[in-house]
Amino acid sequence: MTATANPDSFLPAMSAIAREAGALLVQYFHQHLKVEYKGDADLVTAADRASEVLIRERIQQQFTGHDVLGEEQGLNDQGSEYRWYVDPLDGTTNFAHGFPVFSVSMALERRTPDNGQGVRIAGVVYDPTRDELFSAEQGRGAHLNGEKIHVSQIAKLNECLVATGFPSHKRHKNPNIYFYHQITLRTHGVRRAGSAALDLCCVASGRFDGFWEFNLNPWDTAAGVLIVEEAGGQVSRFDGSPFELNSRETLASNGLLHQALLHEFKEVFAGRGLEPLPDPREYKR
Ligand code: IPD
Ligand code: CA
Ligand code: CA
Repeated sequence: MTATANPDSFLPAMSAIAREAGALLVQYFHQHLKVEYKGDADLVTAADRASEVLIRERIQQQFTGHDVLGEEQGLNDQGSEYRWYVDPLDGTTNFAHGFPVFSVSMALERRTPDNGQGVRIAGVVYDPTRDELFSAEQGRGAHLNGEKIHVSQIAKLNECLVATGFPSHKRHKNPNIYFYHQITLRTHGVRRAGSAALDLCCVASGRFDGFWEFNLNPWDTAAGVLIVEEAGGQVSRFDGSPFELNSRETLASNGLLHQALLHEFKEVFAGRGLEPLPDPREYKR
């Protein structure tokens, strides 16, 4: 089923901007890029910056006065009821190494005047290497290149394929290796592809049955979470409480698996039932 037109939709403009930024990223991808470091192992390239400049220019031209929070330039707060969340290149490490898994992620939030709470009304994630545009509007479902998508129907943990990610900096402070190990043993496997926005879209489109990550930022999740929810999936914190953009905990699933994944998280956080990592010194060839 294809998307029906909504005359008030921001999606056509948003999609065009994401496609334009994606095309720019591909041009840079084919060049030899100078890599810089934001932190210890936190890469940034000229492509991240150029993509964000382009996206901000387009938003400014077409939606003058809207606020923008982008990874590279931070928050431009003009007091608007609209706020854009922009990750101009999600998957920088992949990009810098020539591994073709990266995306552009953009979401739009509207703040209601009564309580100032933001509602995410539209989001797109564009994968320029596969020319795949994932999109969603609040209450209107999720789409891939205009075709309706839905989360998977798998209800058993031992039949599912899930994904996770690891932060690019302060990796040693992150306990995710325990969750990775445990959930690897209980499922068909855990993928770690390197673009959280695309991981979420893979849950939305049924390619993955679940995804989790610690310490993601609002620009990583704002679009992908809306796309998962509009595709019939569920997103929460690791204890099952409601997901928020500043939660720093993202657990997404097809809904059917959510309780089973929450149970695994509870057990691992409590240190129960942990399968010890095999000792490499005992490895026999
Ligand atoms: C990163 C990617 C990666 C995730 C990291 C993020 P970036 O975003 O989404 O999949 O594991 O936590 O920082 O830095 O490439 O925009
Ligand atoms: Ca990112
Ligand atoms: Ca980024």
